[in-house]
Amino acid sequence: MPPRNTDDFRAIARRRLPRGLFDYIDRGTEDERALGNTRASLDAIRLEPRILGGGRAIDLSASVLGRVRPTPLIVAPTALAGMVADRGESKLARAASRFGIPFTVSTQSVEPIEDIRRAAPDAELWFQLYVWRDRELTRDLLRRVAGQDCDTLVLTVDTQMVPKREYNLRNHFGVPFRPTPRNVVDMLCHPRWLLGVIGKSIATRGMPSYGHYPPEFRSGMMKPQTVEALKLDPGLTWDDFRALRDGWRGRIVLKGVLAPEDALRARAEGADAVVVSTHGGRNFDCLPTTAEALPRIRAAGEVPELLADSGVRRGSDVLKYLALGAQAVQLGRAPLWGLAAGDEGGAVALIEMLLEEMRVSMGFLGAANLADLSRRVP
Ligand SMILES: Cc1cc2nc3c(=O)[nH]c(=O)nc-3n(C[C@H](O)[C@H](O)[C@H](O)COP(=O)(O)O)c2cc1C
Repeated sequence: MPPRNTDDFRAIARRRLPRGLFDYIDRGTEDERALGNTRASLDAIRLEPRILGGGRAIDLSASVLGRVRPTPLIVAPTALAGMVADRGESKLARAASRFGIPFTVSTQSVEPIEDIRRAAPDAELWFQLYVWRDRELTRDLLRRVAGQDCDTLVLTVDTQMVPKREYNLRNHFGVPFRPTPRNVVDMLCHPRWLLGVIGKSIATRGMPSYGHYPPEFRSGMMKPQTVEALKLDPGLTWDDFRALRDGWRGRIVLKGVLAPEDALRARAEGADAVVVSTHGGRNFDCLPTTAEALPRIRAAGEVPELLADSGVRRGSDVLKYLALGAQAVQLGRAPLWGLAAGDEGGAVALIEMLLEEMRVSMGFLGAANLADLSRRVP
């Protein structure tokens, strides 16, 4: 039976991926309240239809960061997508670019941006930055990014601490990978993944790891000073943001904003957009949800363009965030499940399926374009 919805793709992903990797993608943090709250707050939103508008053609195009795009979707940065499929980031970038959807490369991607650019020359690549403690290393990374026809930088500001994901510890899942009886058995029970992803990688490029990190990182043979230098900086400030703003010629997006005052400040400091996001419920378990925060931020006044993510599983979820004031919506886990279920074609099928769900929902709502979605949340 072909997958018909996001949950079907997820179910296939669950069978194909080792438990440690599946849980890493799928689960939340601590007691996983944020996951449930996110779903509940999306489910609580109702969209009001308009009747007898005639069968107008449905136009999903959206103006995002100064450019009109065929859809309001963006593929969110996800670390280690290259563990889901061999050359997974390149495949996601190509799948997204078939629909004119930007793909955001994570600082913690398996493939470095240069390889993704080579494999997907036409893709619109955004780059998500985690700032390392060693700022010189971060500056080097940004120079590489700027050289790859990438003008949109997404600074993630909600990951200042290491989240308490207990299942990763129980599954012995971590980077760099260290073999233990538990995770080796887990991998051996998924031979198709083991050969198709890890086997292929070892045969061509070595063990999968964080592609933007120095080569010693792969072997786990780094000096303690280098380990320290590559830890994410927990102490970022608006001064750091300003320095980044001054040094980056393209657009800057702040990802992980939930407070109206932070969105106002972001605009005042020169951010082009903010992503209203709970990081998919993966970081802190007690946050307001995106659906709760979006209207408050929208109502705050002079805020930058609003993007939104977390919890999107249906086309109607996308429309809900748009109706609450987002200009575009990011997909995190969903494309990874498409990739796990059917490689690049699976990611394409997943996106196509979501777009079709969006079109059908728009039809029921009597909305011909995305602007029609405003004032639809009673
Ligand atoms: C496996 C995985 C890895 C992620 N890695 C990153 C990352 O490296 N940087 C980042 O800013 N966000 C990261 N995120 C968060 C996503 O960008 C996005 O905010 C979140 O997944 C959206 O929720 P959703 O998965 O329910 O769509 C990651 C999410 C997942 C599922």
